[in-house]
Amino acid sequence: MASKADYIAVIDSGVGGISVLRKLVQLMPQERYLYFGDSANAPYGTKPAAQVQAMTEATVERLMKRGIKALVVACNTATATAIELLREKYPDFIIVGIEPAVKPAILQHPEGAVGIMATPVTLQGEKLEKLLRMFPHSNIHKIPAPGLVELVEAGLANSPQMDEFLATVLGPYVGKLDALVLGCTHYPFAIPAIRRMMGENTDLYDGGAGTALQTRRRLEAAGLLHDGPGCVVFENSLEDPTIINLCKSLLTEAHYG
Ligand code: DGL
Repeated sequence: MASKADYIAVIDSGVGGISVLRKLVQLMPQERYLYFGDSANAPYGTKPAAQVQAMTEATVERLMKRGIKALVVACNTATATAIELLREKYPDFIIVGIEPAVKPAILQHPEGAVGIMATPVTLQGEKLEKLLRMFPHSNIHKIPAPGLVELVEAGLANSPQMDEFLATVLGPYVGKLDALVLGCTHYPFAIPAIRRMMGENTDLYDGGAGTALQTRRRLEAAGLLHDGPGCVVFENSLEDPTIINLCKSLLTEAHYG
């Protein structure tokens, strides 16, 4: 039987990071994944940054004690607040953090209008500011979407409630954006609803695939790739079978492209 030290831990404030886990499993089906969602404390993105940092640090500390071979922070909000601290604390460990896919969106639409939809914590963070300073002339629109995470956590990613919610957040941008960055890992689950709202002329970007590639690169360089059989284990801070069932269905069902 595999020891926990063979697992790649993937963490998020809740079920959102499963959009990254899907990309990891597609790219490296032979790996063993331990997905931990902190749904009891979700959403992170509307809490003070220091609190998000402390919650992320506590989750990682617990996982490190159990023994894992790599950590994927599949939460833009946790990356924005805690990634530097984690890298300082565990300097020799493979830690990959997702960030909003701003760069590919701007590079492919240098003259266009680019929206960045993310949590308030991510949008206010220094990390994003630093990234945006690299593109001073870009036509960027920051679009906070507090409330979207709660709908995904409730299993309502593709629902009339989501359509209603998106009408208020994205309504003003319909027909005005060339690209929309989904800067929170919960948002890819709402892609069918986002498409209904924005139509087909806005390109959507998220950092899931890039994060999976970067994880593979790091594992390969360290000689830590596993050659199967792979598996996924779900854990959640909510002691409720409903949330584990939602995790399983988000991983396996074709909710989005
Ligand atoms: N899924 C997370 C992110 O990528 C956090 C959302 C939240 O809990 O507010 O930002």
